Amino acid sequence: MSAAAGRTAGAGLALPLYPGPLVDGLSRPISYLRVSLTDRCNYRCTYCMPPEGINPLPRSELLTFEEIVTVVAVLQQVGVRRVRLTGGEPTVRKDLVVLVSHLARLGLDDLALSTNGERLAELAGPLRQAGLGRLNISLDTLDAARFAQVTRHGHLDRVLAGIEAARAAGFACIKLNTVAVAGFNDDELPAICRFAWARGLVPRFIEIMPMSGGALFYPGSLLPAARIRALLEEAFGPGEPGVTYVPGAGPARYLQFRVEGKSVPVGIISAVTEPFCDTCNRVRLSATGQLHVCLAHDESTDLRTVLRSGLRDAELAAALLAAVRGAVAAKRAGHAFTRAGCGGPRKHMVSIGG
Ligand code: 5AD
Ligand code: SF4
Repeated sequence: MSAAAGRTAGAGLALPLYPGPLVDGLSRPISYLRVSLTDRCNYRCTYCMPPEGINPLPRSELLTFEEIVTVVAVLQQVGVRRVRLTGGEPTVRKDLVVLVSHLARLGLDDLALSTNGERLAELAGPLRQAGLGRLNISLDTLDAARFAQVTRHGHLDRVLAGIEAARAAGFACIKLNTVAVAGFNDDELPAICRFAWARGLVPRFIEIMPMSGGALFYPGSLLPAARIRALLEEAFGPGEPGVTYVPGAGPARYLQFRVEGKSVPVGIISAVTEPFCDTCNRVRLSATGQLHVCLAHDESTDLRTVLRSGLRDAELAAALLAAVRGAVAAKRAGHAFTRAGCGGPRKHMVSIGG
């Protein structure tokens, strides 16, 4: 985004009348937007991308920073208060720090980023200074060989250095996201918790979801939330529902454990076996400007055509909002994932960003 575009970020887009909050057809308020900045990634996690990778999109297909800020500024006017940047891997998008500084100026309640941590050693400080509020970092294993295997050649030491840089940069709340995979890292859950707690981080375990038409999913790989809880309770004793367990705040359900005299949290994200669709508050913008109202279904609404239609200011805002409202009204009640790995979308996780 040019400096001039940055100055006008969000300005001029005010809608003439307060149009009322964004609510879907099942009365779920939409207050959270995930923005994918790229479908590229410097890793190729086995549950996320096919081994040959995906054909990355040409740059001209991606929304510009100005277009992204426009969408966020319009949705902010109808109740979207929290934004998370995702990918692919968002830190491979050129000038990410500039985009963060523009988005930070919008004054959202929450501006966060999900990353694999590979580039955080150099980016954590600049991102924090640009106004990024929170970070989620993926960490599936503490074993370097396993890490290289699941990420297809990622370097654990780079990510650990990235985690340290993030802590030093002063982020208030850093979460570690672990996709829990039976037969891969189910023996490591307590160790990952201890690693996180020792550093003031919040560990979270995510059930593996059958994206990519199920092509990357092995039925035996699902570690159900009940099993995750059992493994944690074997290690740490009984867990209590966490204080942050607020339906609608986000999909993670928290448990508190008492470990060495301290109360420590673990989040579990159980999309498959204990769905949270009835409190879903989110929509997703792909790197190409498609609005996906559900991670688990393929339909999407093209906002890029609206952004590039030549409309400006309040007219553009109204046209975007009309498109968004139409999509949100049709948001489905829930996903159709099964434990056998069917019922998911054809889209790849890497192109929508989790
Ligand atoms: N199931 C669950 N989580 C996934 N992620 C990627 N693919 C899957 C999947 N199939 C997670 C990553 C990261 C976020 C972007 O999504 O580990 O935390
Ligand atoms: Fe990249 Fe994240 Fe997908 Fe791994 S899970 S390939 S780090 S986008």
